[in-house]
Amino acid sequence: MLLDQFGRIHNYLRISLTDNCNFRCSYCMPLGKIDFLSGEKLMQPHEIENIAKVFVRLGVTKIRLTGGEPLVRNGVEEIIRLLAPLPVELTLTTNGARVRNFIGLFKEAGIRSVNVSLDSLNPDTFIRIAQRDTFRQVWENILLLLENNIRVKLNTVAISGVIEKELFNFIDLTRRLPLHVRFIEFMPFAGNHWNSGKVITAGQMLKMAEQHYDLVKLKDEPHATAKKYKVIGFEGTIAFITTMSKHFCGECNRIRLTADGKVKNCIFGKEEVDILKEYRAGRPIEPLIRESIRGKHKIMGGQFMNGYKKVDPETIKNRSMIRIGG
Ligand code: GTP
Ligand code: 5AD
Ligand code: SF4
Repeated sequence: MLLDQFGRIHNYLRISLTDNCNFRCSYCMPLGKIDFLSGEKLMQPHEIENIAKVFVRLGVTKIRLTGGEPLVRNGVEEIIRLLAPLPVELTLTTNGARVRNFIGLFKEAGIRSVNVSLDSLNPDTFIRIAQRDTFRQVWENILLLLENNIRVKLNTVAISGVIEKELFNFIDLTRRLPLHVRFIEFMPFAGNHWNSGKVITAGQMLKMAEQHYDLVKLKDEPHATAKKYKVIGFEGTIAFITTMSKHFCGECNRIRLTADGKVKNCIFGKEEVDILKEYRAGRPIEPLIRESIRGKHKIMGGQFMNGYKKVDPETIKNRSMIRIGG
């Protein structure tokens, strides 16, 4: 079992497969030229499999594949096939563009749920955010997932200037579709031009929503990042991920493994432990994993304890989101 100093059990591993992506969303990826990780720095499929097996032995029961965009990674099919037999819930977070090519594999691998990032329902706004003209493709793939009985959560980053216009359209999606739309407060990461004025809080969105819809609060899943609601009579649900306005660190069960094989014990943590290096040197990785979990801070390394409005973006020393994987 991976227990930290505060009694939190870590049983949910997020494995980033690549720091590359076929989109260019500025809240996630720094502008300009990015030096993506070269092939030899990336964990190879069998390394991912064997490292994941160590985590499973230590009590991990859920593995989420992330990126960048996991479905652009060369060999992602092999990686999914190697992880599928492990006794874990296997899932992924994707921008949705390439899902059509993988739907058969998802079913074969027993993937029952997929989280898809979608920040706008307006094709022109979508292009402005993602720098790619792929709204229709993503939307069709969301419907394809649903047709294949794969549960879909939409991840919608609350971008100021966009979400105010589109909140109701997103909520309306849940009227007839069993979609779970999660509105995410904009978080600061290296190079993403965050400032506190750009944060639209869950409280603000909830207030807007309550003026138009009859909402009921639903019970949240244990360790969930999101606070869930439903419009009475609608098929799907909506939820808010409140990282900036109300942290949820007390319930944290998440560990991250970057595409270059480093364990991060917190999305906002600076500390990284290079387990790929140990693995390649033929040394056991379990002690390093335990050390990383032992060093985990209670609340986001203390950064947001005084409220997000006091955070100076210049002091955020972390990887960019694309190199963490969310
Ligand atoms: P479920 O397993 O379906 O609940 O998904 P998830 O929320 O764990 O993962 P997903 O990749 O869909 O992430 C949704 C949003 O939650 C992203 O913006 C993540 O960055 C954020 N998120 C995920 N894990 C954490 C976390 O440990 N702390 C914080 N603050 N945010 C997180
Ligand atoms: N703030 C909040 N959420 C973000 N994501 C990416 N960057 C940010 C950010 N700066 C979300 C994406 C993706 C998930 C893994 O993280 O929407 O769905
Ligand atoms: Fe866990 Fe860190 Fe996220 Fe808090 S900020 S919930 S400690 S990963």
